Amino acid sequence: MIRFEKASVTYPGGVKALQDLDLTIEDGEFVVVVGLSGAGKSTLIRAVNGLVPLSSGTLEVNGHRVDGAGRRDLRALRSEVGMIFQSFNLVKRTSVLNNVLMGRLHATSTWRSVLGLYTAADKERAFQALERVEIVEKAYVRASNLSGGQQQRVSIARALAQEPKVVLADEPVASLDPPTANVVMRDLQRINRELGITTIVNLHFLDLARRYGDRIIGMREGRMVFDGTGEQADEQVFEDIYGRSLTAEDVLDAGPTQVQLDAAAAADAESQA
Ligand SMILES: Nc1ncnc2c1ncn2[C@@H]1O[C@H](COP(=O)(O)OP(=O)(O)OP(=O)(O)O)[C@@H](O)[C@H]1O
Ligand SMILES: [Mg+2]
Repeated sequence: MIRFEKASVTYPGGVKALQDLDLTIEDGEFVVVVGLSGAGKSTLIRAVNGLVPLSSGTLEVNGHRVDGAGRRDLRALRSEVGMIFQSFNLVKRTSVLNNVLMGRLHATSTWRSVLGLYTAADKERAFQALERVEIVEKAYVRASNLSGGQQQRVSIARALAQEPKVVLADEPVASLDPPTANVVMRDLQRINRELGITTIVNLHFLDLARRYGDRIIGMREGRMVFDGTGEQADEQVFEDIYGRSLTAEDVLDAGPTQVQLDAAAAADAESQA
């Protein structure tokens, strides 16, 4: 369980990125966080594994008290939390398998990891993780030779190899094309459903948020302004969260634009003339 109580984050310089957040996320939930740029989505996610300290309030994650935690406590917490980033954060010059094995580092002694001496059990876990995101045939390929979508699936496998209780994904599909974005979101959803891993995903595409978010949290200027299901989050709700009308930029797969429709109609008329 993840529980924020009256949690606030004020950055040096005075920006209030989280304000009085009261939020409980139960084990196994799939939560999507939406909001304009600067609303506090990344701050919320990063607070969960202690990357951003609370200025006030409390935060508990899987029984770990995160606010005020020392280095040892944070290390224990982070071993249970897998992170996925927009930019994948793979080591590009090494193999997919080595990247996934890095998910085992927290459970590996320093000298073993320095020498690359992973156990057979670690390798088994790494292969299982690659199978789960259907990319096991790329195990020995250099990470730099993969497409963006494949790299993101490797980074999901790396998080899975860690055997996390929680997965945090900060804009995991922001640099992918629409079909690939859906593949990656489906992988995250499958992992959540099959393994029961609590998952929090920041998204700025509202169609994806509705499609995949069992629960949607809306953030605005550091405050939670919506907490409901994907079905409840209709256009009006999103306009309230954003404080403006929606535009084509707010959806990933808007379908053809008016300009494209006009061009198609013109071409059609011409071919009939
Ligand atoms: N390290 C920092 N130091 C100072 N201010 C920060 C820091 N990180 C974020 N902020 C500010 O805190 C606010 C919330 O930032 P945050 O990154 O959480 O927003 P976000 O919702 O993730 O935005 P985006 O969609 O652009 O990623 C913003 O005003 C941002 O400029
Ligand atoms: Mg962000």
